[in-house]
Amino acid sequence: MTELVLGIDVGGSAIKAGLVDVEAGRVAGELISAPTPRPSPPQALMPVIAGLAARLPGPTATVGIAFPSVVKNGIVRTAANIDGSWVGTDGAALAARALNRPALLLNDADAAGVAEMRWGAGRSTNGIVIMVTLGTGIGTALFCDGKLFPNTELGHLELRGMDAEKWASAHVRTAEKLDFPAWIARVNEYLQVMHKLFWPDVFILGGAVSERFEEFAPLLRSPAVLRPAHFAGQAGVVGAALATAETSG
Ligand code: BGC
Repeated sequence: MTELVLGIDVGGSAIKAGLVDVEAGRVAGELISAPTPRPSPPQALMPVIAGLAARLPGPTATVGIAFPSVVKNGIVRTAANIDGSWVGTDGAALAARALNRPALLLNDADAAGVAEMRWGAGRSTNGIVIMVTLGTGIGTALFCDGKLFPNTELGHLELRGMDAEKWASAHVRTAEKLDFPAWIARVNEYLQVMHKLFWPDVFILGGAVSERFEEFAPLLRSPAVLRPAHFAGQAGVVGAALATAETSG
């Protein structure tokens, strides 16, 4: 029988959920979502997650949750784009209690990267691959021969004297009303800094750039191979479920 795992992706504006067929690497059925509560402390977020899970048919044995923070052994350690009260919280334990099944909590970009490496733009790619998600913040996932080095947080590298994500994220583009060439020039500068430090073979670009990659591609510059992400808005959900299946399987 097909193994289905519940995947959940906690984002700055929406929380998404879907049942993932982990043997086919795709969402089976509907991807549902609910607005992220503002503010978003654990006591406000967990009922929304439980509500989404209840709307998906049939309980699954495990659940994977992609979270926009450093996560070590289930514990949330940073909170750049989520309520500060999460820091120090055992998010995996809270989720397991709210959803009545074992839960794995992992960084959202790491989850997206796992989806891309197993079933998307990074499939069968050895060497060093860096997945970069350009959204509210900048998330990164670093892989060496397909193996994840978790919690890299390279969106916080210093660029122009500030956090890189405060200079080059998709959110900054909207907030500062940058046109595409102006924004992509910033993204190129960011990729250049990363290249100097990590010498990746491939960058997989997720978020706003991947959705309109044809338009952006001629402007993007890097000595590494640049690939658009395959999963777009589903990467976190799919990757969280895959990572859970890999850990529990
Ligand atoms: C957080 C990362 C997260 C990224 C994308 C950053 O601000 O520090 O943990 O992966 O945003 O959500």
